[in-house]
Amino acid sequence: LPALRVAVLGAGTVGTEVLRLIAQQGDELAHRIGARLEVTGVAVRDRTKDRGEHVPAALLTDDPSALVREADLVIEVMGGIEPARALLLEAMEHGASVVTANKALLAQDGASLYEAADVHGVDLSFEAAVAGAIPLVRPVRESLAGDRIQRVMGIVNGTTNYILDAMTRTSADFGDALASAQELGYAEADPTADVEGHDAAAKASILASLAFHSRVRLADVHCEGITSVSAQDIAAAGRMGRTIKLLSIVERVEEENGERISARVYPALIPDSHPLASVSEAYNAVFIEAEAAGSLMFYGQGAGGAPTASAILGDVVSAARSRVHGGVGPRESRYAELESIPLEEL
Ligand code: NDP
Ligand code: HSE
Repeated sequence: LPALRVAVLGAGTVGTEVLRLIAQQGDELAHRIGARLEVTGVAVRDRTKDRGEHVPAALLTDDPSALVREADLVIEVMGGIEPARALLLEAMEHGASVVTANKALLAQDGASLYEAADVHGVDLSFEAAVAGAIPLVRPVRESLAGDRIQRVMGIVNGTTNYILDAMTRTSADFGDALASAQELGYAEADPTADVEGHDAAAKASILASLAFHSRVRLADVHCEGITSVSAQDIAAAGRMGRTIKLLSIVERVEEENGERISARVYPALIPDSHPLASVSEAYNAVFIEAEAAGSLMFYGQGAGGAPTASAILGDVVSAARSRVHGGVGPRESRYAELESIPLEEL
């Protein structure tokens, strides 16, 4: 079988699991794709750190730019805005397809990435960027592309759900619960992004942009995190038969003078009888309402190395197949033509 050169940017919580899956399932993946995935290098900051058996020291490099220029497929799991953004643009310029889990980057500057993918005729996939293992991006982007989505609503941040769940069920202290979410690999490198709601807001902006075929930026999302939720608030909610959850809601709002998009993230009181109230630990759950499809519910592990790696590998197989079978080519940017729907005043 022919080989596809795969560059991996980052070997932390997610990257090591991606490399483990590629190593352990290499033969099966090759069969499914019609080509072998040959990992040509793994970019990290610290080349001296031992990263386990699936990340051979010989593959580690601190020159990611050279790595992406020679790749057919780039998997970006380093996080942050730069150098991730420049590297992905460089990769696409050199003809590589890109798979990324970087919601912060997509929310901040998805436009330049989408355009580069169109101009250079490569795939840009990011199923792992929203709700971990749950297939959500593909359903919104592709399966429901012929329908009219009205609303996407649910829990899309595992860390805050883990913290609120621990505070509700075991009366855990906020700081202790956050520390265990970090140990379990759920939190962002800077967990402020989780607890202040910015990570959920980034996901909301990605979902709103895809669902409503518009440009919804991070700054357009009203965002409140969970740092002001106290043990007393949780106890008071419990006495009212309610549970506090960090909700992300993006929806079309009909108004007299036309349609608006509303995008917001905030801690909400959910009746205990509602399915979202029983979403525990780092699980995520999302409801989509579409005109013809009606109501759909998605549920699963929203964070963590292995669940996220599962979503990444799905994208890798799909992008690799499309290269093997010649499915992509330069095309006019669809993104540039999109009309922006005005946002609701918040
Ligand atoms: P980690 O912090 O665990 O890993 C980041 C990796 O990237 C490390 O190996 C680090 O190197 C490397 N890295 C960071 N900056 C650079 C740089 N400038 N040059 C070279 N290498 C660099 O993060 P995660 O694995 O948790 O997350 C990675 C991405 O996946 C992020 O975008 C995150 O938002 C996203 N994601 C994470 C999920 C999770 O549950 N953890 C779920 C869904 C998405 P070194 O090890 O040497 O420091
Ligand atoms: N920090 C994120 C979360 C990782 O807790 O949901 C998954 O995107």
